[in-house]
Amino acid sequence: MKVTVIGTGYVGLVTGACLSEMGNHVVCLDVDPEKIRILKEGGIPIHEPGLLEIVQRNVAGGRLEFTTDVEAAVAHGTIQFIAVGTPPDEDGSADLQYVLAAARNIGRTMTDFKVIVDKSTVPVGTGDKVKAAVQDELDRRGIRLDFAVASNPEFLKEGAAVADFMRPDRVVVGADDERAILLMKALYAPFIRNHDRMMVMDLRSAEFTKYAANAMLATRISFMNELALVAEKLGADIELVRQGIGSDPRIGFHFLYAGCGYGGSCFPKDVKALIRTAADAGQPLQLLQAVEAVNDRQKLVLVDKVVARYGEQLTGKTFAVWGLAFKPNTDDMRDAPSRVVIAELARRGAKLQAYDPVAVPEAQRVLAGTPGLSYADSARAALEGADALIIVTEWKEFRTPDFEALRESLADRTVFDGRNLYEPKLMRSLGIEYHGIGRP
Ligand code: UDX
Repeated sequence: MKVTVIGTGYVGLVTGACLSEMGNHVVCLDVDPEKIRILKEGGIPIHEPGLLEIVQRNVAGGRLEFTTDVEAAVAHGTIQFIAVGTPPDEDGSADLQYVLAAARNIGRTMTDFKVIVDKSTVPVGTGDKVKAAVQDELDRRGIRLDFAVASNPEFLKEGAAVADFMRPDRVVVGADDERAILLMKALYAPFIRNHDRMMVMDLRSAEFTKYAANAMLATRISFMNELALVAEKLGADIELVRQGIGSDPRIGFHFLYAGCGYGGSCFPKDVKALIRTAADAGQPLQLLQAVEAVNDRQKLVLVDKVVARYGEQLTGKTFAVWGLAFKPNTDDMRDAPSRVVIAELARRGAKLQAYDPVAVPEAQRVLAGTPGLSYADSARAALEGADALIIVTEWKEFRTPDFEALRESLADRTVFDGRNLYEPKLMRSLGIEYHGIGRP
């Protein structure tokens, strides 16, 4: 099938690449000439395991193309995915200007039937706005053309996005047009061959599903983070509690890990946007407001522990920081807890030696000018001359370090672990002072 993907960000690029992998002819459009240049030269502008190979293979096979030419891109696909950014406005609501500009571009230049699919995470009701924008452009041109609008939210996890796209646990499609539903079924059939995991629903329910999913997951995390604080007071171990409750199938094990807060491009933004949408609809979400407040607090939990140990003034202290990305297997620093931890410790005069397997260039960009912050080439090098270690992201290579070497490198033999990677008892037996989250 002929598919156009508008926006070559995270979602757009993964979508375009994976669809081309199944034989579709995909054209990806972006207004940013720099991104298109990188892609045309056989690179990708983001870090995502497995993506580069798929892009290169399908570009070579002629099934995947990149362009900045709006007219050509709109002319190409019967299916037009809109996967542009929806950054939060000042008030937390999603800014729809890029989505609606894409819709208008389609309306302005289309010459035959199109299925216009919202892939970006957009507030409930955006599908109707997209319809109106396209229709308005057609009216201006004084022509009548058929089109359908659908919602197809993505549930990709960064670092596992290719696998998530190739083997989705569900494909949600919101549409009322029969042709649109049939085309979407045909497009996704190769990805859900063993059993039909497509759920067709109305546009608004599909749009809401995405927010509800992310809000639920964020809620679980904040709930566990708050319980972890209580566990510390009560002398209980949140890790054992997690296992104790997770074994109940009604609860399940996923997304119950206490830590130093959630970050990334989705949870913080979507939680904010849903709080806003609900308030605008006259039905404020009290629970979700608390989820957000708890997370803002939780990003400071490592700082609190450091301050409790060393005092407010940290001048003369050096900390190794392991992990900068908001989670492993990505270089994404958006709303990463590391940003809060580093800013707060630097403000108190600490020296910081940070290491991350892939996010250092991105960190250098977003943390430029942070006093006392330097970067190390390896986890080991970050420890050199440090008083204590702070772990912010749970990269695999941090899971089983040489503990004795670690102890000997740290002047104070102290570890603040924001991701509960180690057994407190083991650390104690090794002579390491260990501060986890919600653990005795
Ligand atoms: C998320 C959703 O999982 C995905 O379905 C949606 O499409 C986009 O948002 P992503 O942001 O890539 O994906 O990351 P995810 O793996 O969900 O982690 C989000 C944050 O929660 C990370 O900062 C992670 O460290 C944190 N987290 C996750 C916890 O603190 N505890 C957990 O138990 C799980």
